[in-house]
Amino acid sequence: MFNHDKIERSSILLLVLTVIVISIGGLVEIAPLFRMETTIEKVEGMRPYTPLELVGSKIYKREGCYGCHSQQVRVLRDEVERYGHYSLAAESMYDFPFQWGSKRTGPDLARLGGKYSDQWHVRHLLNPRDVVPESIMPTYPFLVERDAQISGISDDMEVLRKLGVPYTDEMIQNATSDAVIQASNERETEGLQKRYGGKVNVHDFDGNPSRISEMDALVAYLQILGSFVDFVKYEPINLKKDEVKK
Ligand code: HEC
Repeated sequence: MFNHDKIERSSILLLVLTVIVISIGGLVEIAPLFRMETTIEKVEGMRPYTPLELVGSKIYKREGCYGCHSQQVRVLRDEVERYGHYSLAAESMYDFPFQWGSKRTGPDLARLGGKYSDQWHVRHLLNPRDVVPESIMPTYPFLVERDAQISGISDDMEVLRKLGVPYTDEMIQNATSDAVIQASNERETEGLQKRYGGKVNVHDFDGNPSRISEMDALVAYLQILGSFVDFVKYEPINLKKDEVKK
């Protein structure tokens, strides 16, 4: 039928037509995903990282924490019971690159924010065995001795803005001072909170007010992981009541 025998007898023709058919299928499935905004459900509460948290996220990547920790709670019952609400795509939309990870030597960190105190994190990073005796996690004592690189962070923010993170000119101009304010028990937090919202954690994270260390930045970052979206109010898009009725 339809000269099918001709196609099947000519390997070249069969190959060419097969490639054409498969590419149509591929294009239809893959091309829409390149428009990221169409694949990510908008979720209330997401905000870009503050400059200090951004410095912390760079330290997290530099130290290879992702080699042992994932940041993605899967939609499986055991994971949701252990870690909390499963991760949403929108929660990773300002991460470049995303930190989903592929290996869990340690636990998932996607819902870590607020789980422990700052002091716990500092002790744990200095020597994990101090707080979790059976831990095999490496020590990171040098983090308290190194100054966080906050002066160049506005350049990172400019690049991230090109990639779609909604940093405003005001955020970029105030980057260094915002980082200093966030890490120093400061009272003048109005500007910082106007730019990043009232829930921003402002304090001296590492307990040493005389310097803004890499520890300050990393703990500031760890303390907000997975805490932007309020899951008491969140309704998955395909389960909204009025949509179910339709
Ligand atoms: C060699 C693997 C390894 C690396 C690298 C590693 N960790 Fe861990 N991490 C672990 C293990 C194992 C545990 C569980 C035991 C414990 O709590 O110390 C853990 C636990 C944790 C916890 C506690 C999580 C919870 O919910 O109780 C945090 C926070 C953490 N790691 C942060 C980090 C950060 C930040 C880095 C990078 C600076 C890092 N880890 C690097 C293996 C690792």
